[in-house]
Amino acid sequence: SKDAIILRRILVLQKINLFAHLSQDDFIRLAQIVEEVTYGPGEVICKTGEFGDTMYGIIEGNVRVHNGNETFAMLGQGDCFGEMAVIDSGPRSADCTSTDRTVLLELQQDQVFAFCFQNIEVLRSMMRVLAERIKGMV
Ligand code: CMP
Repeated sequence: SKDAIILRRILVLQKINLFAHLSQDDFIRLAQIVEEVTYGPGEVICKTGEFGDTMYGIIEGNVRVHNGNETFAMLGQGDCFGEMAVIDSGPRSADCTSTDRTVLLELQQDQVFAFCFQNIEVLRSMMRVLAERIKGMV
């Protein structure tokens, strides 16, 4: 049933660290709008220099953040990526490739901003992630 799908979605969304502070109502709303996408092993999700206006939360699986052979980070369940291009509307800063079967939550830029405005904790989490990644780069 539709309710069962929404319930399952809520359980999945609660695994995303960025949403740790959302209320039950927020989760219900989010569950109705988000898209889930599945990638097979070794699929390129985003490519350095390409423009994109989506960010992702990892529900299941692993994603390698890299530029060619140089690996910057390995991300797993609960992590997000793609936030940089969403924030600055600029090109992707790295390649992101699934290492195994990977299920992602896909959020459009306007959805991300709407959630940031609705819930300041989402904005704080996103800024924290961004700061940590920038510090890691220098
Ligand atoms: P974006 O630039 O939109 O697309 C590539 C993504 O890889 C980027 O957003 C971040 O989410 C992620 N990323 C880039 N560099 C790093 C890093 N050093 N550590 C972790 N994640 C990164």
